[in-house]
Amino acid sequence: MSAEQGFDLTGRVAVVTGSGQGIGRAVALRLAAWGATVVGLDREAPERTTTAVEAAGGRGEHHLCDMGDVEQVRSVFSTVADSHGSIDILVNNAARGSHTLPADLTPAELAAVLRVNVGGYFAAAQAAHAVMSRQLQGGSIVNVSSIAGSSALGRGNFAYSISKAAVDQMTRELAVEWALDGVRVTAVAPSQVRTEGFAPLLRDPRLDHGAVGDRMLRGVPLGRLAEPDEVAAVVHFLASDAAAFVTGVVVPVDGGNLALNAGGTVGGPSIRERGPA
Ligand SMILES: NC(=O)c1ccc[n+]([C@@H]2O[C@H](COP(=O)([O-])OP(=O)(O)OC[C@H]3O[C@@H](n4cnc5c(N)ncnc54)[C@H](O)[C@@H]3O)[C@@H](O)[C@H]2O)c1
Repeated sequence: MSAEQGFDLTGRVAVVTGSGQGIGRAVALRLAAWGATVVGLDREAPERTTTAVEAAGGRGEHHLCDMGDVEQVRSVFSTVADSHGSIDILVNNAARGSHTLPADLTPAELAAVLRVNVGGYFAAAQAAHAVMSRQLQGGSIVNVSSIAGSSALGRGNFAYSISKAAVDQMTRELAVEWALDGVRVTAVAPSQVRTEGFAPLLRDPRLDHGAVGDRMLRGVPLGRLAEPDEVAAVVHFLASDAAAFVTGVVVPVDGGNLALNAGGTVGGPSIRERGPA
């Protein structure tokens, strides 16, 4: 296998949840650019996926699906499996945030977050595994987690953070359970990414956004927000045969955020400030 063949997704069927915008859209475009037929699932305007993928010269289709509704998830996977005959890649990405302080969090809000972020990811993984485990070529499931799954954020991210911790452990458990079925299960854990969903947070008047923005970036050695395509590139690698011996890992895509101890210091002036040697 040549280096490029490892990344090639020609002939693969990839289901991407929450594909209408942000990271999901970038993943859909990236997988399609490498040859996959992309099936986008979104609860809002799912046709945006097909439009974007086809405009970029790829093959795409879409289905309206609320990932928090297990019956809808099962039904859409059965439709996709019947019409394509295979499902090779699942990217679990559709999730909901929560910005309620733990003292104010209601059982209903906690349940709503867990229903999509944990129940939805698992329902999709289970439905994909049912198809992948019958295929000689197996399959690859990539969960979009967050640094919030392993590092506390505060600021009312409680429900979201514990849901992402569950995604990290779901990744490890399913990787072990399904290894002999030929189904690899991995995850990416991004820090803050410049998406449509993240942008309003920076403008939220309840947050001192200047200070929060500064604090976020102080924790990121690479000193900036991530772009959706930088997350999509790692998802592509994990989904592809280039990662054939990789399973059960949660890969940070965080500019070094998780590597930096809170008491640490990002070193020295940048190459731009000091000029080339
Ligand atoms: N943006 C960030 O800073 C960041 C950081 C770390 C992790 N993440 C994770 O990345 C993923 C995508 O985030 P984003 O910022 O691109 O989001 P976004 O809000 O920009 O887009 C999310 C997409 O998912 C869809 N969606 C939401 N709930 C759904 C549901 N129940 N069923 C079907 N579709 C649904 C939305 O309609 C939208 O198209 C999420 O899992 C998020 O937790 C994001």
